[in-house]
Amino acid sequence: MKIKKQTRLRGTLTVPGDKSISHRAVMFGSLAKGTTKITGFLEGADCLSTISCFRKMGITIERNNTEVLVHGKGLHGLCTPSEILDVGNSGTTTRLISGILAGQSFVSELNGDASIQSRPMKRIMTPLLSMGADIRSLRDNGCVPLRIEGKNLHAIHYQSPVASAQVKSCVLLAGLYADDITSVTEPVLSRNHTEIMLKYFGADITSEGTTASISPEPDLICREIHVPGDISSAAYFIAAGLLTPNSEILLKNVGINPTRDGFLRVCKAMGADTELLNENRDGEPTADLLIRSAGLHGTTVGGEIIPTLIDEIPMIAVMAAFAEGTTIIKDAAELKVKESNRIETVVENLRRMGADIEATEDGMIIHGGKALHGAEIDSHLDHRIAMAFAVAGTICEGDMEIRGGECVNISYPAFYEDLYSLSCS
Ligand code: S3P
Repeated sequence: MKIKKQTRLRGTLTVPGDKSISHRAVMFGSLAKGTTKITGFLEGADCLSTISCFRKMGITIERNNTEVLVHGKGLHGLCTPSEILDVGNSGTTTRLISGILAGQSFVSELNGDASIQSRPMKRIMTPLLSMGADIRSLRDNGCVPLRIEGKNLHAIHYQSPVASAQVKSCVLLAGLYADDITSVTEPVLSRNHTEIMLKYFGADITSEGTTASISPEPDLICREIHVPGDISSAAYFIAAGLLTPNSEILLKNVGINPTRDGFLRVCKAMGADTELLNENRDGEPTADLLIRSAGLHGTTVGGEIIPTLIDEIPMIAVMAAFAEGTTIIKDAAELKVKESNRIETVVENLRRMGADIEATEDGMIIHGGKALHGAEIDSHLDHRIAMAFAVAGTICEGDMEIRGGECVNISYPAFYEDLYSLSCS
């Protein structure tokens, strides 16, 4: 994929639906009784993996241009999968579905692509095993492929060592099938879409600080879900708009849940002027975001904000390379276990562009303001690396080539078309 420098970006865009919310809408809709109608569903490969897994367990899911209809059969309505459940590249599918499968009355197997086969699953196996689940890593390496034999589960109070919504959600979903109240405490609050949506479907779920608790065996009832635009996808256009001179971009209906809005806070700390318009705070909060070009300066990103922007760090690092001064990103060791090792892949690719950047144990240090040039970038088939460096390519001098650039289809199939739709040159 070749990217060219843009002189200014202007226009209005509706980014695709939130990936985390789209996955959950299909999963919880499958476990609820009746037909759940989803609008704004993200048609990215990851969410399609979730649909395919539930179809293989007997759930009828219809898709047309405007909506997805999930004909749920209730908490105990899934049936033995007809074949291995293919999770593709999707960590969210793998980890959340494992919690559900642990409490079924059948055996299932999960497998996916090379990236997912190297991502850590011990983080979900440990709590599930302590609930009495029978879950095995078939290569005995703590990774996919996994075999899960459904069991009667015991409630636990799990003290999670990582701030991970995937781990939290996995345990809470297993808690639907447990014998008492299950709770999870995390070191720092991670995204809370599971808590919000399960409650909306009728589960008895409460949150206090960094602890979420769920009662077993609720009657989940079908719902209508309007998926807001994904702030993680909006981040690429926010960055492009801020960094390209004379730009003005309006991003419509973006999710601004406080457990996801860290990127906006970092942009502000770097000197951005982003306006929130038409804010709506019912359910998942949303707003239109008005972005105008701004001169950016360095900042420090670390501590409790990290889980609220974990997927946006590649974009923040690229912004920091164009900004004046030094940016420190710390407390972000989780970057090493994403679709690629994002500390390595960001540092390697920014260096190819001429940036002054060093990796640390839990993040990176970027000395911004150096003259950056186009380069041949290796996405390592990580969608967020491809998109962050495509944005870099619209700002720097010289052509940018993104190897494996088609991997954007994981979360944003129309990414390049949308980026060029804002072009004025
Ligand atoms: C997600 C949670 C995050 C995020 C991922 C989606 C989710 O992962 O990186 O893209 O939908 O719960 P962790 O919770 O493992 O950090």
